[in-house]
Amino acid sequence: MKGNKTTFVCRECGATSIKWIGRCPECMEWNTYDEITVPSVSARSAARSENKAEKFSELTLPTYMRSHTGMNELDRVLGGGLVDGSVVLLSGEPGIGKSTLLMQICSELGKTRKVLYVSGEESKGQLKLRAERLEITGETLYLLTETDTDSVLAECDRLKPDVIIIDSIQTLSSERFTSVQGSVTQVRESAMCLIAYAKKNSAAVFLVGHVNKEGGISGPKILEHMVDAVLYFEGERTNSYRIIRAIKNRFGSTNEIGVFEMGDKGLREIPNPSEVVMAERPVNTSGSCAGCVMQGTRPIISEIQALVTKTAYPSAKRTSDGFDHNRMSLLIAVLEKRMGLKFYENDVYLNVAGGIHLDEPSADLSIAMALISGITDKVISDEIIAFGEIGLSGEVRAVSHIDYRVKEAVRLGFKKIILPKKNITPALKVPDDVQLIGVSNIYQVLAHMTTKAPNE
Ligand SMILES: Nc1ncnc2c1ncn2[C@@H]1O[C@H](COP(=O)(O)OP(=O)(O)OP(=O)(O)O)[C@@H](O)[C@H]1O
Ligand SMILES: [Mg+2]
Repeated sequence: MKGNKTTFVCRECGATSIKWIGRCPECMEWNTYDEITVPSVSARSAARSENKAEKFSELTLPTYMRSHTGMNELDRVLGGGLVDGSVVLLSGEPGIGKSTLLMQICSELGKTRKVLYVSGEESKGQLKLRAERLEITGETLYLLTETDTDSVLAECDRLKPDVIIIDSIQTLSSERFTSVQGSVTQVRESAMCLIAYAKKNSAAVFLVGHVNKEGGISGPKILEHMVDAVLYFEGERTNSYRIIRAIKNRFGSTNEIGVFEMGDKGLREIPNPSEVVMAERPVNTSGSCAGCVMQGTRPIISEIQALVTKTAYPSAKRTSDGFDHNRMSLLIAVLEKRMGLKFYENDVYLNVAGGIHLDEPSADLSIAMALISGITDKVISDEIIAFGEIGLSGEVRAVSHIDYRVKEAVRLGFKKIILPKKNITPALKVPDDVQLIGVSNIYQVLAHMTTKAPNE
């Protein structure tokens, strides 16, 4: 259109320039600038609609319908099911199981809703093969292999699906925009068109998103702002457990996690992650302690392992997997100062079993106990579980959701529960064979560690 201007946008970071440049001055990447057309002011005014503001008090409440995806673990992360008209971005490392998860939910959703699965990455044959392996029977499931955004939208207009799955948003592009497939502009514009479609037709949309070199969600940051929920699918390459967590959710909490196991029949839900994590726990070894953290409304019990060995380096080594490195350093400093333990002479390797991330202060006590056990070589009985926050003076502070944690510990068969003294109230009931041990500072836990028998 007359008066339209062209500008150049970096497909990595979204920086703009009025002329083409070889290296982006913002992200320092080479050859990332694409030319895009910006409509002129007159073209924008012509496109302006007659949209009027409405009085807040006169607005009627919309009724959001939620559909069960067939996976309780996913429903939990979505805030209780998939909301009609919502757009969910699902991101994760290559091969983690994004397509598998979405194809599996098609099966249940397809029983009651019309589902359109659009793949720009795999052929219909590959999709059919996966569907066979996952034993999917969707009578109202439609497959489309397409990378053109306009063709996808045209097919949506024809089929009128209730749920649309786009695998992946990076493969979509439109001739209306001059930049290449996967560029910031193409991803943003394609997502914008699909979001507009979803809102207008009350269709739920899943967008699969790639990750970038740093492990973040690839594409423009604005994509995360545009959608209603951002889910991240993660897991270790070496084990089959997969965790899905919400980074953002306009229809629910972001504290919940969903746990799955990948197998040849696809993803299997793990409704009781604590049992799985604790099943492989070694018995009677030093440096191991059970702890409990809340993930949303669900308590998860995990095993913390601390290996403490004499250092061979000028400065002691510290590594932490599943727990914040700075928080571990702080706890080590508290134990050095308040208990005189010589961690500065030792390397510390901390690990949380099962790939769970402990990002709650209530994990402090179990971490500190694993560290003490690791350095003193004393054993913490496998009947013991501990939770509590530790202050800088070594005091143990009260934690929230105590009933949930104690209940889960009792369910998993722990007989001695070490918890902050302030948390013990007459209302906290446990079976007769379970002992609640209240502690107010870190020294008191030493009484519950035993020296290892020589033959063990
Ligand atoms: N026959 C099989 N038996 C067991 N696991 C399998 C089998 N086939 C595939 N998988 C698992 O499924 C994973 C691939 O899943 P999927 O294709 O859903 O991942 P994705 O996240 O969509 O990957 P991409 O980013 O490449 O699209 C494999 O990494 C493997 O763990
Ligand atoms: Mg895939």
